[in-house]
Amino acid sequence: MNEFQRELTSSLEKFCQDNIEPHMEHDDHEGKFRMEIFRGLGEYGVTGVTLPEEFGGAGLSYQDYAYVLETIAKYSVPYAVTVSVSSMVQSILLNFGNAEQKKKYLPALTSGEEIGAFALSESHSGSDAANMKTTAKKVDGGYMLNGTKMWITSGGIAKTYIVMARTGGEGAKGVSAFIVRDGDKGFSFGKAEKKMGWKTSPTRELVFENCFVPQENLLLEEGKGFNVAMGGLDRGRVAIGAIGVGCAQRALDESIKYSLTRQQFKQAIFDFQGLQFMLSDMATETEASRLMVHSAALSLDSGTPNSKLCSMAKLKATDTAMKVTTDAVQVLGGVGYTSEYPVERFMRDAKVLQIVEGTNQIQRVVIARHLKKEYEQHA
Ligand code: CAA
Repeated sequence: MNEFQRELTSSLEKFCQDNIEPHMEHDDHEGKFRMEIFRGLGEYGVTGVTLPEEFGGAGLSYQDYAYVLETIAKYSVPYAVTVSVSSMVQSILLNFGNAEQKKKYLPALTSGEEIGAFALSESHSGSDAANMKTTAKKVDGGYMLNGTKMWITSGGIAKTYIVMARTGGEGAKGVSAFIVRDGDKGFSFGKAEKKMGWKTSPTRELVFENCFVPQENLLLEEGKGFNVAMGGLDRGRVAIGAIGVGCAQRALDESIKYSLTRQQFKQAIFDFQGLQFMLSDMATETEASRLMVHSAALSLDSGTPNSKLCSMAKLKATDTAMKVTTDAVQVLGGVGYTSEYPVERFMRDAKVLQIVEGTNQIQRVVIARHLKKEYEQHA
């Protein structure tokens, strides 16, 4: 971490302690999202970290962004996720949008005034994303969208949605990507999901019934929507990895603090070698994950995203988050299982990190495909 990153994260840490931490236990229980917290993060300058200043972004690197997400996730995984999904939408608009689309939609997203969401999954196409059924039929002046998207992070609180829909035949080549706005005629919100974790981050169904999308809201050209989605996910997966690191780090911090004060058999439980081995493994895995996330972030900063590294970072950091948060509950014992301490919340919030933006099984599929390709190139 350089001097700038140290300053950035320590002042952000203070912001999170003052503005996020006091609400989390209550809001997790109530399933309450606070727009003022998101806007506060926007005023703080972290809702558009990697976007150029010309679009209202902070113009920082993906490595800076990884530290930002790690810091927010130490206080709230759901708010970090709201920032990361909205930032993925921004990266899609930046990389695949035309000048008009960037000018029109980016400033409200980078400033944190509005939230962005990404709509790929459907009830029958989760991992097999290219098998989606939502259609976008060409009509005069644009497209008519029909279908239902499922499990959409920030559904209902977001204003700008990147929606993938079928304009052509079967498979990836028949998919196109569109910009749809909350309030567009024919676009409504369905079921709000009841979840194990991420309770302060709404997850909703999106319903399209003869929803007219004007031609100017098509991203790139017809048939390029799957590439748009996958390109966005390369960046999104590194962000989810960074959130995994923050989640694991908080669980580790809580475990060390507790084990140094909790006395059993006339000594701090930290002094038992069994616990020291456990804490050392938790710390080592967290640090290894951080290094991997930063290595993937470096590839994004270089301008040539390394998809294999992005998937590896997501896989390693989110499996680590699950393992470290589970161990943290074990270190705290009975109280770790109660909401008196935050570790059970972080354990619940860690689980879905192994599922979103491609399950960790899908990350292994991506990695294996790259391994095969690299082997064939060098054979
Ligand atoms: N960047 C750009 N283009 C890419 C790409 C990438 N990283 N990876 C693949 N593509 C392109 C391919 O080049 C190909 O295009 P061409 O034919 O023009 O060359 C096209 O995409 C199809 O690729 P595949 O043949 O590899 O497609 P596939 O059907 O075999 O699927 C998959 C590959 C990796 C399994 C993919 O379906 C996948 O990632 N599935 C998981 C879906 C997912 O991550 N969902 C997350 C939901 S969003 C979410 O969770 C966000 C949230 O709310 C928190």
